[in-house]
Amino acid sequence: MRLSLAGLVVLALALVRAAPIEPTELHSKAAQGLRLLDLAEDAEPVWKTEDEKLELMRAGVHFFDVTETYEIEQQIPKSALRAPAATFPAPSQQTTVTRIIATLSTANMQASLTTLSNFNNRYYRSSTGADASTWILTTVRSIISGKSGISASNFAHSWGQSSTIVKFAGRDTSAPVTILGAHMDSINLSSPTSGRAPGADDDGTGTVNLIETLRALVAAGFTPATPLEFHWYSGEEGGLLGSNAVAANYANNGVRVKAFMELDMTGYFRPGSTEVVALEADYIDTGLNNFLKQVVTTYTRLPVTMDTPCGYACSDHASWFKYGIPTSMPFEAVTGNDNPRIHSSSDTISQSGFSWAHSLEFAKIAVAFAVELTS
Ligand SMILES: *[C@@H]1O[C@H](CO)[C@@H](O)[C@H](O)[C@H]1NC(C)=O
Ligand SMILES: [Zn+2]
Repeated sequence: MRLSLAGLVVLALALVRAAPIEPTELHSKAAQGLRLLDLAEDAEPVWKTEDEKLELMRAGVHFFDVTETYEIEQQIPKSALRAPAATFPAPSQQTTVTRIIATLSTANMQASLTTLSNFNNRYYRSSTGADASTWILTTVRSIISGKSGISASNFAHSWGQSSTIVKFAGRDTSAPVTILGAHMDSINLSSPTSGRAPGADDDGTGTVNLIETLRALVAAGFTPATPLEFHWYSGEEGGLLGSNAVAANYANNGVRVKAFMELDMTGYFRPGSTEVVALEADYIDTGLNNFLKQVVTTYTRLPVTMDTPCGYACSDHASWFKYGIPTSMPFEAVTGNDNPRIHSSSDTISQSGFSWAHSLEFAKIAVAFAVELTS
């Protein structure tokens, strides 16, 4: 995610209303390898080649790649789904949450992140990106092995790297689902397919926070009253591809979602800056953020603060926000004190400013979010 700037020029160019794109045009352009991008809210999507898309990414422009979700999105009246600020009760599961967060292990997270960052890259269109997805599925399958009421599966895409989904059925299987997400892919912006992109912080940290949260919940024998899911998304760096596909699929299937929280970069704060949990300020639900502020205060050692707005299509929470679902994203630092080495070969575990003690606080938030909202 991130690296914002620019965008405004593109926005100005895209403000002309047009008729919906016909299925024949959609399919023939996609078959030619063109990609359909949403560059701004309420603007018409534009067709770009993969090279043009990469140029936008290098310029720091954020977008949704809606090539594969356009038809579903046309059928769903998004504005009608946009809910007012949701309300969530104050944290009340201190006994359970405190017991489980005491078992979170930074050594486990370090071991997982070492494996993930050792893939040459986790680009969603590279073979090592697909290998990373396979490793995540294998890892979560082994965590939930032999447990009833928990399942793991891949959510396949038209590109090589699948998203991975773990589901706790919950005692009331028909209740709305609580979802925690992170993105598994990484990118070297100068050479995506073959360049080195350890993606340790972006978003190896969020990825391993959720793996460790899952492990701790399962080890504690936690059985949620309502459904709980963990999502590891493919292709966030390519225009929120994985989360956009999963959110469209859930909307299309009428899956009700109670709340969504994204963890995208949790392991860095600028050396010398004040260590905080920064809540993203746009494409989020203020009610869910109010709940998260209490979670951070109750369960972590860090102060909570608001970040500056991150902008359109900034990370996977935006894919769910489109459908009126309450979303939040606790971020490693306020913008400016966040990681400057993402999307490069320097985003490693050993970089200056990387901190497991910091990232651990976000795993605590994930445990609390899961337990408080599904108990
Ligand atoms: C991309 O990877 C190559 C080598 O694999 C490296 O030389 C280059 O610096 C990387 N680009 C970035 C932006 O880190
Ligand atoms: Zn990211």
